[in-house]
Amino acid sequence: MTTLKPNAAAQQSRWHVFASLVELEDAALERILAAADDAIAARGAFHLVLAGGTTPRHIYEALRSEAADWKHWHIWFGDERCLPPEHPERNSRMVMTSWLAHVPIPYAQIHVIPAEKGAEAAAHDYAELLKPLPQFDLVLLGLGEDGHTASLFPMQEWERAIAWPSVLPVHDAPKPPADRVSLSPERLSATHALLFIVTGAGKADAVRDWKAGVAIPASRIGAQQTVDIFLDIEAAGQ
Ligand code: 6PG
Repeated sequence: MTTLKPNAAAQQSRWHVFASLVELEDAALERILAAADDAIAARGAFHLVLAGGTTPRHIYEALRSEAADWKHWHIWFGDERCLPPEHPERNSRMVMTSWLAHVPIPYAQIHVIPAEKGAEAAAHDYAELLKPLPQFDLVLLGLGEDGHTASLFPMQEWERAIAWPSVLPVHDAPKPPADRVSLSPERLSATHALLFIVTGAGKADAVRDWKAGVAIPASRIGAQQTVDIFLDIEAAGQ
């Protein structure tokens, strides 16, 4: 069981505002590739947690053309929707079609959350899979308009708890589908570095609250070294 670290990122977040989506996506791509080089040089492997949703799609597509040291990449997911594997709304399907199906990362190193099993069974199985890995190298996360990240939504059970397993079943999610699986704040924070990618005017209110110190779900995630938040000017409210 693990305990939540409230506002773990508050004291170490670095905010970056980019004038265009292209500049933001290029910077995110460079950050991912640099993190991979550092991790592989230091530890012989790169453990990357992917964000779902739509924001990161172009970045995943850009990774398709890179000549990275793919055999040392290990892919994890921050959350997944309880849908069949080939459902168009599955985060894993978005990532496979935009990137992973096009690069030679060994299939055994792509760890999809088996959310089609149902939230409880999938959360248990993924927590077992994560046990041998104490820390990720880089976690990518998005931000919802209500301040959620991964599938950690505001005013839900996880916020009232003081201890959780590393992977949580989620029900009644306000963003369909209602049933999901999510890594816990603590498990998402067990990473060398964390990078949020946030774009669009719809996220501006959540970003404003976050910067003002409001404890939105995203502000509950930290990292061992760095927390960077990449914003376009719309999300930054500029
Ligand atoms: C999901 C994602 C979720 C997403 C945000 C932002 O499964 O929906 O994990 O946390 O990152 O909702 O979504 P967009 O990138 O589509 O705005």
